[in-house]
Amino acid sequence: MLNSGETAAEPARNGAGRTPAEVLMGLVWGSTASAAVTAAAALGVADHLAGSPLSGAEVADRAGTDPDATRRLLRALAALGLVTEESPDRFALTEVGALLRSDVPGSYRAAAKVFGDETLWQGSRGMVHSVRTGEPALPHFLGAGLFDHLRRDAGAYAEFNDAMGQASRTVVPALVGHVDFTPFRTVVDIGGGDGTLLAGVLRAHPDVRGVVFDTAEGVAAAAATLGAAGVAERAEIRTGDFFAGVPAAGDLYVLKNILHDWETPDCARILTRCREAIAPQGRLMIVAQVLPDVAAPGQWVPSHLNDLTMLVNLGGRERTGAEYGALLEASGFALTGIDEVPGSGGFSVVHAVPGPSPAVR
Ligand SMILES: C[S@@+](CC[C@H](N)C(=O)[O-])C[C@H]1O[C@@H](n2cnc3c(N)ncnc32)[C@H](O)[C@@H]1O
Repeated sequence: MLNSGETAAEPARNGAGRTPAEVLMGLVWGSTASAAVTAAAALGVADHLAGSPLSGAEVADRAGTDPDATRRLLRALAALGLVTEESPDRFALTEVGALLRSDVPGSYRAAAKVFGDETLWQGSRGMVHSVRTGEPALPHFLGAGLFDHLRRDAGAYAEFNDAMGQASRTVVPALVGHVDFTPFRTVVDIGGGDGTLLAGVLRAHPDVRGVVFDTAEGVAAAAATLGAAGVAERAEIRTGDFFAGVPAAGDLYVLKNILHDWETPDCARILTRCREAIAPQGRLMIVAQVLPDVAAPGQWVPSHLNDLTMLVNLGGRERTGAEYGALLEASGFALTGIDEVPGSGGFSVVHAVPGPSPAVR
């Protein structure tokens, strides 16, 4: 309690003018912001608003939702910058909100739906369990690992592939602009999913051929992606299990967002299969959000959050450069360099060449 004449000390404010309590509580409420965006994506709110501004009741009518609750969702989306409330109860999409439309090139609707949906949300609910034990929480809820769970539900696997393809939208053009793929004859994208990365590479390099390798469910949309990019005749789609073996055709092996899904011994198995397949003069590129050696405030946050996402959902992890170096060495590769990909949203390329053969795993 303050004595008369005393004034409370002004709390320090950060660069955005927020007090420590406001910063903390903003983070606490972050899960509700995420849930609101995911709900908007799931309910097709942006598609309904695409033609013209609408009232909450009009959106509800189109979405088949409760009018009052829908208006409250829209007001929250206005506060988050996805819509504007142009006049009372009249909502219009912003440039950010328009990314949730399903019918636009560059849509992020599937990504917003899947990365915040009930399945993956369960992993986050188990964060305390994961931090206590070091184990992924999601398999306790699903009764299976994430990929085994997806394999039981073709629709869910398709949505996951779509989300991964959409999440690559920023990364792939930046990667293709940054890495010179011209020295390679055949690029093999291990765990290449819907073919977004390979399509980007082949489109930019008419003399390069490629293979997208994934599970049968993982490549379900790859033919369509490669066809739409006009590169299908230079691309092969191969299915299999990267723990058992990978195609031996390539002089460049790319693994984007693969190793972070797995614990280190599993990563060593995948890399060892690549080492067995790769030509002596071949190259390996790991495209990943490489963690800095020391975490500092203000650094690119998604890589640290992704590290936790991998922990709770899969038992995987993001890694530092030194950790990638050790993993590569244990799997018969030698790290030759790591460079950040400008404009990619925090991705780097970890470059490696075949080194001494690893012990058989
Ligand atoms: C996180 S996604 C990354 C997809 C893509 N590389 C990207 O960055 O968008 C992981 C991929 O690994 C594939 N995958 C999982 N287990 C696999 C296995 N045992 N063999 C081959 N692919 C597998 C999944 O189907 C999925 O496409």
